[in-house]
Amino acid sequence: KQQLKLFTPLTIRGLTLKNRIVAPPMCMYSCDDGFVTDWHLVHLGSLATRGVGLVIAEATGVLANGRISPNCAGLWRDEHIPSWKRIVDFAHSQNTAIGIQLAHAGRKASTYPPFLQGTQGQRNKVLPDDGGWENVWGPTNECWDETHVQPHEMTVDQIHEVTQAFVESAHRADKAGFDVVEIHGAHGYMISSFLSPIVNKRTDQYGGSFANRIRLLVEVVTAVRHVWPQDKPLFVRVSASDWVEGGWDGDQTVELARHLQPLGVDLLDCSSGGNSPQQAIKAGPLFQVPFSAQVKKALPNFLTGTVGIITTGHEAESVLQESGADIIMVGRALLRNPNWALDAANGFNVFVKWPQQYELARQRLPKL
Ligand code: FNR
Repeated sequence: KQQLKLFTPLTIRGLTLKNRIVAPPMCMYSCDDGFVTDWHLVHLGSLATRGVGLVIAEATGVLANGRISPNCAGLWRDEHIPSWKRIVDFAHSQNTAIGIQLAHAGRKASTYPPFLQGTQGQRNKVLPDDGGWENVWGPTNECWDETHVQPHEMTVDQIHEVTQAFVESAHRADKAGFDVVEIHGAHGYMISSFLSPIVNKRTDQYGGSFANRIRLLVEVVTAVRHVWPQDKPLFVRVSASDWVEGGWDGDQTVELARHLQPLGVDLLDCSSGGNSPQQAIKAGPLFQVPFSAQVKKALPNFLTGTVGIITTGHEAESVLQESGADIIMVGRALLRNPNWALDAANGFNVFVKWPQQYELARQRLPKL
C-alpha cells in the first residue's frame, strides 16, 4: 500500500508544513487604504483553525498603484505591519503556517472589485472619485482592454522602484512574522506581463528576448532573497501558459524554473492565464496539473505547487502520488467549505488535530 502523501509534513528550509494542503492567495477586496480588517482576521483565521498546512494571504500591493482595486491589501508602508501581525500571530496560535503574496498589479490596476461597479456602471477603470488612480504602469502603454485604465510605459527608474518596493515589502512581511513570501508573477499583473511575449513589446533590456522578459522577475527574486531570511521559504507564482498562440507556455516556464531555482526560489506555484482577453482557457478538474508536472519532470529537485479545480482529497492525493506537484492549493473549495482539509483527513482515516473548541463536533473515525 502506498504511503499517503497529502498529510505527510513537508519541510522547506526552516519551515515544516504539517500537511500538503495550501490555501492559495485570494483577494477579498475588503481593505481600507491597504489596511487589512476584521474580515481578514476572521477569513484567514478560520482557514488557519481548520487543518490546512499553509494559508497564503491575498495579492498585497507593494506600492499603492500596484493594487488591483482601491480595496486591495497593501504592505507599502510600515503602518500596515501591525494589522497583518495580528493575523499572523493568530495563525501561529493555531499551529498553522502563513504566507503573503506580494504583488504589483501593473496594467491591471485600478479596477473595481468583482462585486462592485462604478457609479456610472463601468466595470473596470475606477474613477478618481471612487478611489481610482491614473498612474497605472505597464511594460508598454497598451491596455489589457479598453475597459482598463490606459497604462503608462514604465521607465527603467520606475522598474527599479518596483523591485525596491518588493524588497521593502518583503522586509515588512518578515517583521509581521510571515513564514512564506510568494512573489506574484501570474495572471497578467506586472511581473507576468513582463514575462509574456504577447504583452511585453519593450525594446530595452526588459523586453524582447527571453532573458530580457524574465529580467524583472529575476531582479525581484534576487533582491528579495537578499532580505528575506535564509530559513524562510520563497515561492513564485507564475502563469505557466497565456493560452494564446505565440504566448508564454510550459516550455518557457521550465526554462524560467531553471533560472529561479539557483536564485533561492523554493517552490514554483503554477497557475495560468490573465495576459490577454484572447486567452482560450480549457478549464476543468485538475486542468493546471500538467504545467507543474512538466516542471517537476524537468527539475525533479525543484518543488512545485498546483492549483485549479482540485475539489476532493482523493484528487489531491492522486496528484501527489503521480508527481504532479509537491503541494496542493485548494481555493474556491475552501471558501465553500473551510473544513475541507479536516474532512479530507477524515476521508482518509487520518487523525489530525481539530481546534479543541470544535472537538465535540468531530465526526468519529471508525475504530482502526
Ligand atoms: C483568486 N485567485 C488569486 N490568485 C492569486 O494569485 N492572487 C490573488 O490574490 C487571487 N485572488 C483570488 C480571489 C478569489 C475570490 C478567487 C476565487 C481566486 C486565484 C486563486 O488563487 C486560485 O488560483 C483559483 O481560484 C483556482 O483555484 P480553485 O479555486 O479552482 O481551487
